[in-house]
Amino acid sequence: MAALAPDALPAYVYDLTALAAHAARVRGALPRRVELYYAAKANPEPQLLAALRPYVDGYEVSSGGELAHVHGAVPDAPLAFGGPGKTPAEIVRALELGVARFHVESGHELRMLGALAARHVPERRIAVLLRFNLPVADGALDGVSLAMGGRPTPFGADPAEADALVRALTDGGLPQLELRGVHAHLASGLRAPEQLAVATSIVTWSTALAARHGVPLAEVVVGGGMAVDYAAPGERFDWAAYGAGLEHLAAAHPELTLRIEPGRALTAYCGWYATEVLDVKASHGEEFAVVRGGTHHLRTPATKGHDQPCTVLPSDAPWPHPWPRPAARGERVTLTGQLCTPKDLLARGVAAPGLRAGDRVAFGLAGAYAWNISHHDFLMHPRPGFHFVGAAGEA
Ligand SMILES: Cc1ncc(COP(=O)(O)O)c(C=O)c1O
Repeated sequence: MAALAPDALPAYVYDLTALAAHAARVRGALPRRVELYYAAKANPEPQLLAALRPYVDGYEVSSGGELAHVHGAVPDAPLAFGGPGKTPAEIVRALELGVARFHVESGHELRMLGALAARHVPERRIAVLLRFNLPVADGALDGVSLAMGGRPTPFGADPAEADALVRALTDGGLPQLELRGVHAHLASGLRAPEQLAVATSIVTWSTALAARHGVPLAEVVVGGGMAVDYAAPGERFDWAAYGAGLEHLAAAHPELTLRIEPGRALTAYCGWYATEVLDVKASHGEEFAVVRGGTHHLRTPATKGHDQPCTVLPSDAPWPHPWPRPAARGERVTLTGQLCTPKDLLARGVAAPGLRAGDRVAFGLAGAYAWNISHHDFLMHPRPGFHFVGAAGEA
């Protein structure tokens, strides 16, 4: 990052070797019978999708755009098409591309899929996983960063509709659709013990549903949402403990394929957002460093309310101006971007004594939900560069 020319900043730098090594460790910690799909919404850069290919069984896509993009980047890969509010055109495209699984989120969507399949691919069987917003034990999702289930949300069908949906899939009225399994993604930001508790309750609920109707159930997706700790960037989700727990769960249900679909915990660690300090100033007793770029490139800290972990790379380039170089006088500096909003905060109270204009800052854990969730055009600043280092598959 220090090697990038000043006019190349800000820039995203992705380490594909590190990504491949991390994905290999994740895959290695999981039992063979557990399938791993990457949730492409976390970061759909084609280079990352390709680097992950040897370690994942498929990709979860949640829009027609992701569907077309991921199919283009990794054409041989199985896709699971999820997401609320699928349009008829998106469903038709998914049918034409032959996606491996549909995660169906409502009765309306199920009937729409049945009707469109009959019209566009009448000869084909379509594998359906019903997505449910399942109840969780009181307080089980209290500490999580994003809850999509266990409370009123638009994601998946209400469990109260489960019996009717299973009947709709098995009473012969939608003959092309095959009830393959159940899908749930209840929260993001869960550590291994909570993930296992959630996975166990999803599997228990799903197998009871199937037993009630006397129908076979082949697959249960227990979601993504493995925690990434932005306050402790060296920590990792305990994949070994999670894998061991899933092994138990899989052993108790030999008829089932379990599937997980993490996004953040796969790609967060391989990305960096590198930039330089433009100015340093004191304001009402606090010091601020304004960096080139900001949350319109790296929205993660603004959207999650955390401080993005970062490393300062002091610059030894001579100061080119006849006036003094702006520099921090105290120990702690708040790093902000160029936007005209107090929300453009990248990291507060960073220990950066002596930070100066021209120094570089590399923000870590910027490989997931970073560039692709940012409001790029606000204020019309230039876009960052993108650099992919390391060879995928070297792990
Ligand atoms: C259906 C679904 N699966 C998987 C994920 C991935 O979650 P995470 O990136 O937290 O692992 C999401 C994220 O929103 C999701 O909505």
